[in-house]
Amino acid sequence: MKTSIKRSMQAVLLATGLLGAGISAQAATVTIACGSVGQDYEFCKRHTDEWAKKTGHTVKLFTAPASTTDILGLFRQMFAAKSTDLDVIMVDVVWPGVIKDHLVDLKPYSKGAEKAHFPAIVANNTINGKLLAMPSFTDAGLMYYRKDLLEKYKLSAPKTWDELAAAAKKIQDGERAAGATDFQGYVFQAKAYEGLTCDAVEWLAAYNGGSIVDAKGNITVNNPNAVKALKTAASWVGTISPTGVLNYAEEDSRGVFQNGKAAFMRNWPYAWSLGNSADSPVKGKIAVSALPSGTVGGKGGAALGGWQLAVSKYSKNVAASADLVMFMTSPEIQKERAIKGSYNPTIMSLYKDKEVLAASPFFGDLYDVFTNASPRPSTVTGLKYPEVSQAFWNATHEVLSGKATAEDSLKGLEAKLKQIKRTGW
Ligand code: GLC
Repeated sequence: MKTSIKRSMQAVLLATGLLGAGISAQAATVTIACGSVGQDYEFCKRHTDEWAKKTGHTVKLFTAPASTTDILGLFRQMFAAKSTDLDVIMVDVVWPGVIKDHLVDLKPYSKGAEKAHFPAIVANNTINGKLLAMPSFTDAGLMYYRKDLLEKYKLSAPKTWDELAAAAKKIQDGERAAGATDFQGYVFQAKAYEGLTCDAVEWLAAYNGGSIVDAKGNITVNNPNAVKALKTAASWVGTISPTGVLNYAEEDSRGVFQNGKAAFMRNWPYAWSLGNSADSPVKGKIAVSALPSGTVGGKGGAALGGWQLAVSKYSKNVAASADLVMFMTSPEIQKERAIKGSYNPTIMSLYKDKEVLAASPFFGDLYDVFTNASPRPSTVTGLKYPEVSQAFWNATHEVLSGKATAEDSLKGLEAKLKQIKRTGW
């Protein structure tokens, strides 16, 4: 290149700030899948814009469906076709064993950044020594309730599911009698999808009913405690919960609770920030606790959830995509998401950050709930996890909708899981 041309190019780069930022002339276009639950998309847009400005690369956003079950279906189709359409994807905590063959090893790009994150989550994302995804946020099921209504009806926060049902009934009856005819005691997720697996894993944990398949791979779900757990949950439908709950996902329950139409809600941490947003009818009236236990003095179960970011093996821009993943999972971004969106960080030190704790005090109060949450059996069942989960949520849905008894349904589920397992997971 002639020196004069080189000089004028440098001048252009300097004027646009690109040279100063150490950017090579090769700007890439990276497409990222962003979630669409709560504030997922807004945050994804804001932070990818920041990265694009900083690096000179271009980001295109792809809006993923709300249900994790639908997202997985879509990604698996794209992987089967070796599609180059998506570079950066979101990965549910139960997927690494399912989609491992389609993800890039991020170790060469992470420079050890994963060491600041919860080791259990990093281990979950590491297969055969490859770091297949960087943790973005962690999740655990929580109980939300209306403090003002507990006070009005002189109730204390329920510790067991029986206490919850009684409190929900009392408030529901009272509010309905006072004219709020569509008021609900308790809303949760009972649509036939992965979210129901999470809710039901929590009921099983609360009643000591195991975790569907144990860590050794044994199918344990057909047991009397699991029967009790499903029976209890079925007794809520049509009494303290609307029958419509059989078609509710996270956002449906949040809609009802945030509109002031329910006393209790099971949901993930993201609902805290939205429930306290300026335009929320229940702002300042809500509290969060651990989920109830099955017996007095027993332990409540929270399902472990959470999301990671990964780079598709079929991406044509692996280096830029990996850089975006590292930026989106960095302490700065996790801190902002924690403060403004109540997304639980995966970076341990952020649980000691004063600003983070001030915005979501339950991050500190319920720290044990987040670190001891019950995993779904995705590690042990590996590639077969989606089939296992689907069989479980279908069996549970049958019980909740009164189509089968808990005994019959769990017996049938055991047989189905044996078929899926065949000679091994
Ligand atoms: C949340 C959790 C995820 C879970 C999903 C179920 O997004 O983080 O792990 O699979 O809910 O709906």
